[in-house]
Amino acid sequence: MMRSIVLVAGARPNFMKVAPILRALRERSSNLVPSLVHTGQHYDFEMSGVFFEQLGIDAPTVSLQVGSGSHGAQTGRLMSSFEAHLLGLPDLPRGVLVVGDVNSTMACALVATKLGIAVAHVEAGLRSCDRTMPEEINRLVTDAVADLLLVSEPSGLDNLVREGVDPSRIHYVGNVMIDSLIDQLPAARALEMAKQLGVRPREYALVTLHRPSNVDSPERLAALAELVERIAKITTVVFPVHPRTRHKLEELGLAARLAAAPGVRLCAPLGYREFLGAMDTARVVVTDSGGIQEETTHLGVSCITLRSNTERPITITQGTNVLVGDSVEDAWNAVQARLVNPALPAAPIDGWDGRAAHRIIDVLLDRWS
Ligand code: UD1
Repeated sequence: MMRSIVLVAGARPNFMKVAPILRALRERSSNLVPSLVHTGQHYDFEMSGVFFEQLGIDAPTVSLQVGSGSHGAQTGRLMSSFEAHLLGLPDLPRGVLVVGDVNSTMACALVATKLGIAVAHVEAGLRSCDRTMPEEINRLVTDAVADLLLVSEPSGLDNLVREGVDPSRIHYVGNVMIDSLIDQLPAARALEMAKQLGVRPREYALVTLHRPSNVDSPERLAALAELVERIAKITTVVFPVHPRTRHKLEELGLAARLAAAPGVRLCAPLGYREFLGAMDTARVVVTDSGGIQEETTHLGVSCITLRSNTERPITITQGTNVLVGDSVEDAWNAVQARLVNPALPAAPIDGWDGRAAHRIIDVLLDRWS
């Protein structure tokens, strides 16, 4: 008997996680028939459409177009739209698969579980133990209701076991985002991004910033903008600017100043391949992203994370990533140190091998087919 399953993606860090799962489902003949719901949490071409193009996501896609808003408003819209979608289907699906830790992940997991539909969570068990982060709340809620907890790094197993989760719900599958990275790296390298950006390989810092804790406070954002200018005095800085950050920089009158600063290359958010290529040949990456900590670890590129904690501690133990907390001075010192002594290539991590999507399908076939 054919069984339908619904995959959910909504924001930029979701697309490279659903793509390999859809592809693996296509490659394996099974009775699981996937459809993809794009919630529309991210909607600009450069935050969404370019990922569909480059990652070859061509599953039948339903778009819910929920857009931006406060957490309450956005989560509410996500839930009512996704519920209406599920109830409008000829039959309820066998399962709903959500990825990551964005509002779309949590909202759709809640809706499915309340309709009695089984939920699988890809990237389960990650914990920053910092409940001021919206993503931490999303992780805790999603893991609490998901039936299948699909874990990407060893700390995820430890956290779930510590929380008393029944082991039958937990499966170590590895990191599906690394499946996309491995698949797309040759195409990313062929773009010769350093050349396109007008910089020399290994002679630039790549900066990204978007976390509310870094960009929503004017004082903090101003201090980080100063840090960017300071780094640019010793090495070129490439800074693709997230829309949230762009709005805040413009409000503070800092966008024009940064754009005019010598050695700073501001640009719009890059496509998946372009960003991967830019990361691959960077001397150092300075970021507050979650996924970039993992991607740099796989690439063996130095990463300096502008946060006090990480839900991805393997990136620290592997030696590629360092946390510098709130201190701009510590960030500055870490950048200088990494320019002199870059990270050594990390040792292979169990399940970060390009086959995580297939292990996910193995679990789904066992439990849902
Ligand atoms: C969201 C995720 C975050 C993830 C990040 C990656 C949550 C709570 N946060 O944060 O975990 O790391 O995505 O990018 O789910 N905007 C646009 N165009 C877009 C999307 C957003 O201009 O296509 C602007 C809007 O002004 C919006 C703001 O960015 O209000 C924030 O977008 P939102 O999705 O709420 O959160 P992110 O900061 O992107």
